[in-house]
Amino acid sequence: MSRTIIISNRLPTKVQRTASGLSFQPSEGGLATGLGSIYRADGNVWVGWPGLFVDDPAEQAHVTEQLQADSMAPVFLTEAEIRDFYEGFSNGTLWPTFHYFSEFSLYEQAHWEAYVAVNEKFCQAVLALAGPEDTIWVHDYQLLLLPEMLRRERPEATIGFFLHIPFPSYELIRVLPWGAELLRSMLGADLIGFHTYGYMHHFLSAVAHLLGLPNHNGQVETPDRTVLVDAFPMGIDYQRYAEAAASEVAQAHERTYREYLGETRVILSIDRLDYTKGIAQRLRAFEVLLQRHPEWVGQVSLLMIVVPSRDQVAQYAGLKMEIDELVGRINAQYRTISWNPILYFYRSFPFEELAAFYRLADVALVTPVRDGMNLVAKEFIASKTDQRGVLILSERAGAAQELADALLINPTDTGQLAEALHEALQMPPEEQASRMVAMQALVRQYDVFAWTELFMNRLAYSKIKQETLA
Ligand code: UDP
Ligand code: G6P
Repeated sequence: MSRTIIISNRLPTKVQRTASGLSFQPSEGGLATGLGSIYRADGNVWVGWPGLFVDDPAEQAHVTEQLQADSMAPVFLTEAEIRDFYEGFSNGTLWPTFHYFSEFSLYEQAHWEAYVAVNEKFCQAVLALAGPEDTIWVHDYQLLLLPEMLRRERPEATIGFFLHIPFPSYELIRVLPWGAELLRSMLGADLIGFHTYGYMHHFLSAVAHLLGLPNHNGQVETPDRTVLVDAFPMGIDYQRYAEAAASEVAQAHERTYREYLGETRVILSIDRLDYTKGIAQRLRAFEVLLQRHPEWVGQVSLLMIVVPSRDQVAQYAGLKMEIDELVGRINAQYRTISWNPILYFYRSFPFEELAAFYRLADVALVTPVRDGMNLVAKEFIASKTDQRGVLILSERAGAAQELADALLINPTDTGQLAEALHEALQMPPEEQASRMVAMQALVRQYDVFAWTELFMNRLAYSKIKQETLA
């Protein structure tokens, strides 16, 4: 039987060390939550890192057994690999470069070497698992070398690649000492997918400028194969979010929160702690709202969930301090005995509680300075079963290409953002509903199942095309 082998650095389950032993929890991040609904079908397997350093062989065996029972195959990373491959090249070089934060990028040969070695490690793990009939689907920037490594070993294999983050202008790729090699390696796939046409065009232009390979309608001719490149905006498991929001559990959580909040209106934001998410800019905009429109003082709170992420990388630790300071300052200045301007949580929440937060929110404030897609925006929409609520969305999130009925803003324009908040809080219910209905129709139709099917059909087509050309 042919299966799909999904490969990403992060598995949808993360293993954590607790006082009572190892615990297994759902991972955060759009890749893990998005694909979490599809990977168990048809005997599929998901290969990836369980998010923790485990070197004891007995512990490794335990983790492997637990994950295998849920269709996952772990790849264990050493401490040096976590430092140089994960924190180093993946999140200290590629992540900032691809999000237009080149000034944060490190160019360390040792990190690059670890990146090559860990991609090779993943390659061996896949080769040990995948049969000749299986479809191989590689995900994201941590594994850009993997398509070509697999191709060398299995020239006939069906290999798809999807990038979950932006692909920047070729000018940024050109700055990377290893830029051309990364592009060549991605071209080991039969199909390369991006969230938007913009990212796809940047990739094709980088391939033309740095490798000298032109394309014809998104078809790149390499010396030995034709590679298809296309845009596939990722969706969510709409039904799951709509049902969770309507569930008795979510409603009970919402009632509890309401008791504490009283009549206070709620602006919600949910992200991993990341400098790409525009969290500090958002806090400043909220402060401007309170300054310019004092009628909201005491009437509205910003409920801000920030999930800890990559805290060993310098920029992330620095940002945490900046956010703590901003929240402290704004709360100290504006709070009253019975009202807090910002309700700030630095931790992750279980799915049912997130559903209750989405239900509760009058406004979702999604303001990344760069974001491949942003699934939080779509989850908010799916959760609004009563069609109330307003989405404020950065024009620089991939999701803005689809969600034209959101209030689209430039995340660095604090004044515009504050006015969008003011507008959202006053929007008549009929306008909220008409915008929400339009966005729900789109997010419902292009859900994660439709996304997977589109990608897989296109991948099968790429193989047929190659065979007819051969
Ligand atoms: N998320 C989560 N637990 C939390 C907060 C967020 O699982 O406590 C999820 C959220 O529901 C969403 C994902 O993390 O599915 C974030 O994905 P997004 O695409 O918005 O951003 P990313 O983190 O991938 O950059
Ligand atoms: C983004 C990336 C994913 C990554 C996730 C969480 O969504 O595209 O590849 O898994 O962030 O980041 P982490 O470093 O914790 O895996």
